[in-house]
Amino acid sequence: MEDIIIGVVALAAILFFFLSQKSKTKLPPGPRRLPLIGNLHQLSQLNPQRFFYGWAKKYGPILSYKIGSRTMVVISSAELTKELLKTQDVNFADRPPHRGHELMTYGRSDMAMNHYTPLYREMRKMGMNHLFSPTRVATFNHVREDEARKMMAKIEKAAERSEPVDISELMLTFTNSVVCRQAFGKKYNEDGEEMKRFIKILYGTQSVLGKIFFSDFFPFFGFLDNWTGLTAYMMECFERQDTYIQEIIDETIDPNRVKPETESMIDLLMGIYKDQPFASKFTLENVKGMILNIVVAGTDTAAAAVVWGMTYLMKYPQVMKKAQAEVREYAREKGSTFITEDDVKNLPYFRALVKETLRIEPVIPLLIPRVCIQDTKIAGYDIPAGTTVNVNAWAVSRDEKEWGPNPDEFRPERFLDKDVDFKGTDYEFIPFGSGRRMCPGMRLGAAMLEVPFANLLLKFDFKLPAGMKAEEINMDVMTGLAMHKSVHLKLVPTKVSK
Ligand code: HEM
Repeated sequence: MEDIIIGVVALAAILFFFLSQKSKTKLPPGPRRLPLIGNLHQLSQLNPQRFFYGWAKKYGPILSYKIGSRTMVVISSAELTKELLKTQDVNFADRPPHRGHELMTYGRSDMAMNHYTPLYREMRKMGMNHLFSPTRVATFNHVREDEARKMMAKIEKAAERSEPVDISELMLTFTNSVVCRQAFGKKYNEDGEEMKRFIKILYGTQSVLGKIFFSDFFPFFGFLDNWTGLTAYMMECFERQDTYIQEIIDETIDPNRVKPETESMIDLLMGIYKDQPFASKFTLENVKGMILNIVVAGTDTAAAAVVWGMTYLMKYPQVMKKAQAEVREYAREKGSTFITEDDVKNLPYFRALVKETLRIEPVIPLLIPRVCIQDTKIAGYDIPAGTTVNVNAWAVSRDEKEWGPNPDEFRPERFLDKDVDFKGTDYEFIPFGSGRRMCPGMRLGAAMLEVPFANLLLKFDFKLPAGMKAEEINMDVMTGLAMHKSVHLKLVPTKVSK
């Protein structure tokens, strides 16, 4: 009997110890949560960056909420971004679980969703030194310029007929064509069946990457993913994606293949697969995962950025005039009818415009989530291991301590007054992230958006379709990894006489 009493008391003491330990955990402030589901019922899928900005106004620059049993944290100030992505970068260099990412990236064999493993670090180093190096970005210069010329020719035809053009559609066609040529050395007919197939696959993959799975947050209710058809949809998208990537690999290793004029990215990756230069094995899944990253990250991001830039220019005609004047005067003096990548360094206002576009609408507004590896503290709050952390780059770009009282105003001059760049060391401006998991494709991404953007300003004046006012332009985002404007931007072009 005595043993039983001692046992019960000991058990109670242990329970009390754990409970008191738990209650000592001081999570960042946040909204009240319901049992079991946490804050799931409050979250908004529409414009999540604005939604979390609203919460940050209420709960502060570091806040926490729960989905099921998982703790989520959102950072919204430049100061705390620096703490997370610089001071504590290693501890947040991992990515959280996500069933869709797991499958589509071949069990995290890619770079973007990989765990922070030694192989990941070798892949990343190779990426920085070879795949995305300035030299390699430059080798595809002619591809980007060639595709930008094609895009301008299409707009010119529409201008002759005074018809509106769909800037969103045109930009996606541009980036799709550039990515296919850079990654696979393939030139698809833009309206042909192969291109349509590629776009369909890409849409499927992107939608799976942006979905929320019950099984990630409510493991006991994982069966709901099967009931809702999400599992079947994910499997279908994966099958289509894998068949396509396997076909491309088979073509690349075909001894009878005619090699592209410039070594494509898949050629480089297959070379690494053959030579195995890393300490850990670089598998065919790693090749496929990397290809996936190049395609997904390369197509959406640059297209979305130019569409946002043009949208804001329509809302701020004085900025449009100033940017057009700079680009046109430069071309006139040079005696040229096309802005090349090399020209951009001579266009300070245009470069400030690109930065202002990425500040006001960073196209991956919540960056890619990180996960905390070991228990730590930020701003005096406890962040337990396993916590998912998002940096709201959209909110950080509106941090009034850094950007002054009118952060919602579109004003490229900010970047003429202030020496700030997106290279990851100015924490108030992080459209490409920062630290160990910062975007390795930054240079390529910037190159892909600058040439079409500058030439739109050089060659055309734009009006909104008849009857539409600038303040009526819909500014909602389409949720995904990169956030597009959900309603396509349609404008009526007029060709500028020389
Ligand atoms: C305007 C264009 C682009 C923007 C704004 C952009 C932005 C970003 C952001 C915000 C991240 C997450 C960084 C973080 O977690 O801190 C990221 C990651 C990444 N981006 Fe980009 N990106 C762009 C273009 C590209 C291009 C063209 C490529 C490659 C072809 C690329 C490849 C990647 C990869 C592989 C990662 C994951 C890095 C890692 O986890 O180690 N991006 N990008």
